[in-house]
Amino acid sequence: MTHQVSTVITGIGELATNDPARTEQGGLLGLVSDAAVVLEGSRVAWVGASADAPAADVQVDAGGRAVVPGFVDSHSHLVFAGDRSAEFEARMTGQPYTAGGIRTTVARTRAATDEQLTAHVARLVAEMRAQGTTTVEIKSGYGLSVHDEARSLAVARQFTDETTFLGAHVVPAGTAPEEYVDLVTGPMLAAAAPHARWIDVFCEDGAFDVDQARAILAAGSDSGLRGRLHANQLTYGGGVRLACELGLVAVDHCTFLSDDDVAALASSGTIATLLPGVEFSTRQPYPDARRLLDAGVRVALASDCNPGSCFTSSMALCIALAVREMRMSPAEALHAATAGGAAALDRDDVGVLAPGTSADLVLLDAPSYVHLAYRPGVPLVAGVWQAGRPALAG
Ligand code: NIG
Ligand code: FE
Repeated sequence: MTHQVSTVITGIGELATNDPARTEQGGLLGLVSDAAVVLEGSRVAWVGASADAPAADVQVDAGGRAVVPGFVDSHSHLVFAGDRSAEFEARMTGQPYTAGGIRTTVARTRAATDEQLTAHVARLVAEMRAQGTTTVEIKSGYGLSVHDEARSLAVARQFTDETTFLGAHVVPAGTAPEEYVDLVTGPMLAAAAPHARWIDVFCEDGAFDVDQARAILAAGSDSGLRGRLHANQLTYGGGVRLACELGLVAVDHCTFLSDDDVAALASSGTIATLLPGVEFSTRQPYPDARRLLDAGVRVALASDCNPGSCFTSSMALCIALAVREMRMSPAEALHAATAGGAAALDRDDVGVLAPGTSADLVLLDAPSYVHLAYRPGVPLVAGVWQAGRPALAG
């Protein structure tokens, strides 16, 4: 057996583990002070007091700085071409956000080569990693033809196992809605399924209604894809309740929620993934995170990085917005951006630092995770390890 390289990070002033075994003493984040972590191969091998740390091949001294689990960004749309900054500018001078802008990106994406799309995703994934994101979900949805959806997913698959078929993003220009749903649930799904783990539908006025979403998710499930949903982003509607009824692992946006929606989320256990960068970038009201948390709903935070409604790749910005604008505590926000995102992808190997989990860590240039919200806009990431390997200098 080949020797696996081990690394010990000592002198961690404050370590957020998210380890449920440590929450009694360490609160929601399972905090350990004066901590050390040992990484062996791609996994965490040991977590404990710095004074008790075993030796390893490589030693890194954190010098009292904080370490948190790598961010798990469970919602992004990175496979696209073109620029929509003019649409953003128009929005900032009074135009509303509508789903229709998606079609602009579809035209540009179809015209791009596989190499151009791959290079663009690589750039955005690197941008995310440099900001502490170590797991990312990537959706298709700017191809909207059999060929362009399948190749969008093949491009995404080079970067993550968490790929999502979003052929049902909008109905492309020149196609009748019923005809398009038949295409999505038929030949497009067949071409996309080998490259995808998940299937998603934009369930919203101007996109797909609840009945169409139900049919598309059922077809996806028959092809072995698990469902997720964009719902209640721009208006009230039945999307969130559909997600809960179907027992989906997560439903994303959740901006416009009735009391029934909140009750359905609480009783189903479906995770509400909040995407505050979208409200920031569209000047919409933020989702009411406090109402959800107080009702016992599980919450995740993700970037929704996409060229239209929100072009940020920064999970730290999402944490800062969640704290400042959505009344989440700094601990709730970090938990939602790490363990919450992992749960929204039905993963128990990421988002938590405990023996056996993936060695995905972020060293912050700060004494506490609180600085993620306390110092908004400041680049605090001093080091990133992904699957045990340094992805950015510590
Ligand atoms: O999650 N809501 C649907 N899709 C994206 C926006 C896509 C776009 O405007 O290009 C979102 O907000
Ligand atoms: Fe989205």
